[in-house]
Amino acid sequence: MVYNGRMTNLFTWDDSLATGFPDVDLQHKKLIAIINDVHGAMQASQGEYAIRMAKDLKRLTDYTVYHFSEEESFMRKHDYPDFEKHRREHETFIEQVNAQIKTLSQVNPDDGYRFYRFLGTWLLNHIAKSDRDWAMFIDHS
Ligand SMILES: [Fe+2]
Ligand SMILES: [Fe+2]
Repeated sequence: MVYNGRMTNLFTWDDSLATGFPDVDLQHKKLIAIINDVHGAMQASQGEYAIRMAKDLKRLTDYTVYHFSEEESFMRKHDYPDFEKHRREHETFIEQVNAQIKTLSQVNPDDGYRFYRFLGTWLLNHIAKSDRDWAMFIDHS
């Protein structure tokens, strides 16, 4: 399944994204909520924009790093064979996020919106495919 954020729609979690591990699902829901907060920050008034954006981007990067490291220890603990490939997907995402955050400091709503769509589509596709792959493997092992 491919997810496309639309102008008016925020990203949402649904059962097709369930991994069957409640802690992981909660973390995914929280990440989606933070991404939607980034969208909210983009719509803030000019006076509030920079402060809200900085705060939400910090929450986003901190929580992403936390979630990835939780997920990686879980996969390692269960000897997930595609661990390295998965870890690299996480790493590449973090690099892309950091690179895009740098260019976001110039206030440009189109860039902000593109960034928000990138975050949401990457995350939902990653959960639907790669995270569900490891979850399925661990479920059945
Ligand atoms: Fe995940
Ligand atoms: Fe993952």
